[in-house]
Amino acid sequence: MKTIDQALLPIFNPTAAAEDGERCRAPGRAGAVPPAIAQPGAAPLRFDLYASIHKAIRWGSAELLGRLGAIDTDSDAEVHATAQALVAFLEQLRAHLRHENRHLHPAMEARRPGSAAQGGEEHEAHGVSIDALEAEMRAVAALPAARRREPAQRLYRHFALFTAENFMHMQHEEAAHNAVLWAEYSDAELLSIEHAIVASQTPEQLAGWMHWFAAALPTAELAPRLAGARAGMPAEAFEGLMAQVAARQAPARRAQLHRAVEAMTGLPVARQRVAHARAARAARTALAPARPASASPSSS
Ligand SMILES: [Fe+2]
Repeated sequence: MKTIDQALLPIFNPTAAAEDGERCRAPGRAGAVPPAIAQPGAAPLRFDLYASIHKAIRWGSAELLGRLGAIDTDSDAEVHATAQALVAFLEQLRAHLRHENRHLHPAMEARRPGSAAQGGEEHEAHGVSIDALEAEMRAVAALPAARRREPAQRLYRHFALFTAENFMHMQHEEAAHNAVLWAEYSDAELLSIEHAIVASQTPEQLAGWMHWFAAALPTAELAPRLAGARAGMPAEAFEGLMAQVAARQAPARRAQLHRAVEAMTGLPVARQRVAHARAARAARTALAPARPASASPSSS
């Protein structure tokens, strides 16, 4: 079996892969990095259950890895904030494993027995790693500042290795699992699986994912999700959601997203708060006692 460094090398250096005489592959994994990245140009794009959520996980993994590497172990506040963020992210990864185990793997196995076996085994290993990473993070946070530096560095490296393995795992899913799902299921059926996954989550869990979607997805992928949410949410709750998204985006990106959501829903997004304020003002004015005739306009 190759080391993880050897397995990853061909992804960044195709020449080395050719010289090595091997296709890009993770240890013990048949198949491949390239096929999932480029769907055949002439073929219609299929509904991809993995695309958005895996972008969110890749973004979150990279962000957390950066924070762990840059952490100031002398700062209690920074260590505890990082611990809180990492533990929350690891919980999201656990939930993601559960969703795939409950909704995707049974669908694959139902029509192509054995096709989810490798993914299932890797999920079991990832569950163990996730628990270990959380325990390691909590142990670092519980140490006095003077003794945190070395274990924090160890945690950073462990999380980096886990991230590398998880990136390979997600690549396998996007290549091999999608090939099975696209061959065995229609897009309508895949969409109903996606709906079942969304319906199984609490609003808080969905909001947790939106934190990463907001940063990780292009407007073309994010806007339809928000437009769908708008249809089932009270205006005020939607404003809160948009504010959460806005906090993760640059102003230009935010404006582009608002325009896209407005175009899809036919409802104002950015001006919604203004519209509410105007309506409230109008109601107050209508209910207010009549102004004395002698009052000047500037006295208000
Ligand atoms: Fe997975």
